[in-house]
Amino acid sequence: MNAMGLKKSLFAVSLASALLLGATDVRAAQCGETKLSEQMGEMKDHLKAYKDAAKSEDWAIMAENRAALQELASSAKKELPFKAQSEPKAAQEKMQSNYQKGMTHLEELLDNLETAENSKDADKVMALMQEIGKHTKKGHRAFKQKCDDE
Ligand code: HEM
Repeated sequence: MNAMGLKKSLFAVSLASALLLGATDVRAAQCGETKLSEQMGEMKDHLKAYKDAAKSEDWAIMAENRAALQELASSAKKELPFKAQSEPKAAQEKMQSNYQKGMTHLEELLDNLETAENSKDADKVMALMQEIGKHTKKGHRAFKQKCDDE
């Protein structure tokens, strides 16, 4: 084979692998485009709506959004963070278990929020919102993969 022929075949091979890789990528989870990121995105919207309602002590709207957060936290707990998906089995299981603990703590904070709402304790609600914010930051530092576009 002459030099030109070799170049052409190499080009064909790399084109074929690029196509194959591309095809695999369509099926594999993408950073920031998982079921979990969708659920988290919804949590963000409900948390914002909760905060807005809390400013005017609109207890009914607060309860609605807190209930939605509780539902979402419970389904999100069943997912595997994207960051854990490329880890070897043992590390993945460890991360999954720690992630679940983190989500359980979020559920506890949301349950405490419900208790505070039931006694219309606005100060307690504010303190818990702060705790949820801190806990979320910690959870994201540990389990959220930074995507290339972040
Ligand atoms: C109410 C509390 C929370 C809110 C509002 C929230 C919000 C978000 C948002 C907006 C994203 C980005 C979604 C996107 O890419 O479009 C995200 C991603 C993520 N969050 Fe949260 N988050 C909360 C709590 C937590 C906690 C407690 C943990 C861990 C214990 C956690 C773990 C993650 C992970 C792992 C991702 C990346 C998604 C993936 O791996 O597929 N989040 N979150």
